[in-house]
Amino acid sequence: MNCFKGRDVVSVNDFTNAEIEHILDVAEKMVPIARGEEKNRIMDGRVMASLFFEPSTRTRLSFEAAMYRLGGKVIGFSDASGTSVKKGETLADTIRMADAYSDVIAMRHPLMGSARLAAEFSKVPVLNGGDGAGQHPTQCLLDLFTIRSEKGKIGGNKVVLLGDLKYGRTVHSLTSALSRFGCEMTFVAPEQLQMPKEVINECIEHGVTPCLSTNLAEALADADVLYVTRIQKERFPDAAEYERVAGLYIVNKELLSGCKKDLIVMHPLPRVNEIHPDVDSTPHAAYFRQAFNGVPVRMALISLVLGAME
Ligand code: NCD
Repeated sequence: MNCFKGRDVVSVNDFTNAEIEHILDVAEKMVPIARGEEKNRIMDGRVMASLFFEPSTRTRLSFEAAMYRLGGKVIGFSDASGTSVKKGETLADTIRMADAYSDVIAMRHPLMGSARLAAEFSKVPVLNGGDGAGQHPTQCLLDLFTIRSEKGKIGGNKVVLLGDLKYGRTVHSLTSALSRFGCEMTFVAPEQLQMPKEVINECIEHGVTPCLSTNLAEALADADVLYVTRIQKERFPDAAEYERVAGLYIVNKELLSGCKKDLIVMHPLPRVNEIHPDVDSTPHAAYFRQAFNGVPVRMALISLVLGAME
């Protein structure tokens, strides 16, 4: 029985672990289509509204590629300044319009809680592509897909999350999911950018007590996965505070030489300077494969919520 049809994807906590595994299984089947090696037109005649109120490269393009690869069409915008938002239209009204014109909505908005609000005003499913410093569930699913395909399993891995854990929405969604799958976690960040208390408490409720640290080399000693994030400059209330923390942690080839041989380095991208390009040619670098995984995972989500796959 398909229990995904018509559902919104606002937070990864909307899904059970079994549902997450199922989404990842469907995504695996989508890989040859995402690569263009196989053809599939299950979205023929369907329209996705792609509403990006905040900059995006991977999330928007992979959502749109996913829809096109499945034979569907896309309407929308990548900059709300060319829309009636500029005239003062509310988010609720913009969503009502997208709901009237499409079968599914993919959206990104700078305000936390905006995707939940959109889901209330839309009859068609809303897929949250990031709501401010809140959640980024589709990124979380592609991160889990990457860990599963690179390491063979999710649970049991030792994961180090590094960087801006306060404002980085990808790590909020991922931490919550990884704790549910039983991963050990260490959070390495400048003190003022450590993981929010609510997210740490969620881990503890799921039976995992994360370690908090400022010492990257020590945390990496026996890690299986290093998940690096960008310092979220645009979410800092004060530019001087950003300057104090920017560039504090840089992952380079030399640092990784002391780690497990099969350690994978992930990053939701864009990177600024937190991963040196000398890491790109090492076997540790998984971030470009991770970015590709956005396409099959979003194909899976679109097909499931529209009832084209079970
Ligand atoms: C992230 C985001 O927008 O939250 N990017 C992404 O979706 N791949 C990470 C970031 O902007 O730092």
